[in-house]
Amino acid sequence: MSRKKKVVIVYDEASLDISSELELALNGKISDQVREAMQDTSTISLVEQVETISEVLIEYGYSVSTVITSSDIKQMTDKLQSEKPDLVFNFCESIEGNSFQEMNVAGLYELLNIRYTGSNPLTLGSCLDKVRTKQILSFHKIGITPFRVFVSPDEVVRKKLRFPVIAKPIHEDASIGISNSSILHDRDTLQRHLAELLKKFSQPILVEEYIEGREFNVAIVGTEELLALPVSEIDFSTMPDGYNHIVSYEAKWIPESIEYKNTVPVCPARISQRLQKKLQSTAMRAYEVMGCRDYGRVDMRVDKNGNVFVLEVNANPDLSPSGSGFARSANAFGWTYGQLINNIVESAFKRHIA
Ligand SMILES: Nc1ncnc2c1ncn2[C@@H]1O[C@H](COP(=O)(O)OP(=O)(O)O)[C@@H](O)[C@H]1O
Ligand SMILES: [Mg+2]
Repeated sequence: MSRKKKVVIVYDEASLDISSELELALNGKISDQVREAMQDTSTISLVEQVETISEVLIEYGYSVSTVITSSDIKQMTDKLQSEKPDLVFNFCESIEGNSFQEMNVAGLYELLNIRYTGSNPLTLGSCLDKVRTKQILSFHKIGITPFRVFVSPDEVVRKKLRFPVIAKPIHEDASIGISNSSILHDRDTLQRHLAELLKKFSQPILVEEYIEGREFNVAIVGTEELLALPVSEIDFSTMPDGYNHIVSYEAKWIPESIEYKNTVPVCPARISQRLQKKLQSTAMRAYEVMGCRDYGRVDMRVDKNGNVFVLEVNANPDLSPSGSGFARSANAFGWTYGQLINNIVESAFKRHIA
């Protein structure tokens, strides 16, 4: 009998502790009690996720172990090498909360010549940069929203803009820096908002045309041969007046908030066959031109004329068994969570480029 293939799950303990990000987003207003509760839940959920993935992989015949990322690179490298993995299941989004390190961790697998799930460092880094993503997509004639980048609020008077716009920090994700007040309707409010964001995040601010309309995402599995899972929609129809129809930070992370309760994912989305095909094919093109591998998720908006705009390509999307859009889409396709994970692993094993 042949030896079992060994999969090592690499994850980052700090990546799911969102309390410090929450603090930044809410201007430092979170209490110790809330922080502790969040740390507890995020740690428990991370441990549960890793345990679930381990169980699934064992069920599919792999031998499994885990490695936690660390800023002590020597220790992490030694541990990885001593495990002799046939494949790393790359579950790492950052090192100690720094998402720029996500691509470098993938670079470490490259240097060590270890095959791993998901995209390579170039793709991970490009997808994390919202402007670079837009440049690549627009080169390939994929719909993006017109945008400007601001390093000072004073630039507002000079730049041509079509209102309303949405403003967001250029290097963040997970809706950090996006709130109900991120949609701006005139130059004065934009200038004030930019001053606040620039001060708070110390990075350039991306300002793009706000697309009024429905929001969809498409999860994709595979590399040379792609499979688009059923389209998912964020339903904003119950959002009360005064709240913008966007997935703000509150909508993504604060279950008690009005925004969270009124951004309901619906999968499969109730849309025509034609729109479904259009969204899936746009998502697959965006995935391909960004160089994504094994799995990824593309976020899109559709305006009133049916034009599709890609908001972003997530090369390393959330895969948690309960609650992630990815697991929901796989379920709508008829896959168990185990089938989803196994398909990602098989995609990583069978593609030509390690
Ligand atoms: N141009 C836009 N038009 C309309 N809504 C937008 C636009 N850009 C972002 N949004 C809203 O903000 C949310 C988060 O933006 P996104 O660019 O996906 O950043 P993140 O990386 O933080 O998820 C989106 O899910 C969407 O609801
Ligand atoms: Mg997004």
